[in-house]
Amino acid sequence: MELHILEHSLKVASIAKEGIQICTHGLIKLAFLPSKTRCKFFSLTETPEDYTLIVDEEGFKELPESEHLSVAEATWLALNVVSGGGSTTNSQPIGVTKIAKSVIAPLADHNISVFMLSTYQTDFILVRERDLPMVMHTLSSEFTLMRVVNGETVAANSLGVTNGFVKPKLVPRPIIHPLSSPSNMFCVTSLDPDTLPSVATLLMDVMFYSGGFPNNVLFTSASGELWKMVRIGGQPLGFDECGIVAQISEPLATADIPAYYISTFKFDHALVSDGLQLSTLFVSLSLSVCMV
Ligand code: ARG
Repeated sequence: MELHILEHSLKVASIAKEGIQICTHGLIKLAFLPSKTRCKFFSLTETPEDYTLIVDEEGFKELPESEHLSVAEATWLALNVVSGGGSTTNSQPIGVTKIAKSVIAPLADHNISVFMLSTYQTDFILVRERDLPMVMHTLSSEFTLMRVVNGETVAANSLGVTNGFVKPKLVPRPIIHPLSSPSNMFCVTSLDPDTLPSVATLLMDVMFYSGGFPNNVLFTSASGELWKMVRIGGQPLGFDECGIVAQISEPLATADIPAYYISTFKFDHALVSDGLQLSTLFVSLSLSVCMV
């Protein structure tokens, strides 16, 4: 298995709901007109609290300076697990479940904070740029490390740097933040970039004007599968704490429960199949939770 370290230097920002108007010009360019910017990495997530934006430095230039825009201080790099060849079948784990034991748990054991971004196609594990030597050291035994440099993928060697932090073996990893689960369902899908123009107005509606996720826009749900969301966090989680993704994804992986995982500026979110009873999920997480 290869672990690719992508070359984009990423910023994580929050756009306040009331500030979305002044950012719309830049966001439309980033989301729909890729040829008009040099931005190569763009992600926008709307939650009831705010919009979370993940963009590279080029993309960041498209946004105005504003009191409505808060930017996390760190610069992040995206890691991506690439399983060399072979077709993906339905029986293979997807999302964060696939990388929980090989990537997420070892990073948590070495006290390295991550920021997760699952997509339909792949999972991006964001780590702080300054932690990269430790990240490479931690994951070099499990993966062939590759770095993307000017679009070319080249071998990367771990420098043997460690922060000396090793979690004692077999220490349990209790879930420390409160969980809640809203009643709406989510569709996880992907879109051929060539079809973007035909759905652009629909997406603009969803992104900026719908005040939530409209129910009638599940336009390419290949499997028709819907996902339930579990939100992790009562107070905003910040960016320094480590082990949150591991606390959730490791027991899910042990129980073979497929899950996507999306970190946002304030909270984390796991998406689990709606076919799964939440009670099963919470038993897997060894929890009793208050459901909202
Ligand atoms: N840093 C956390 C971890 O290593 C995940 C991100 C939580 N913070 C956030 N703002 N969503 O598990």
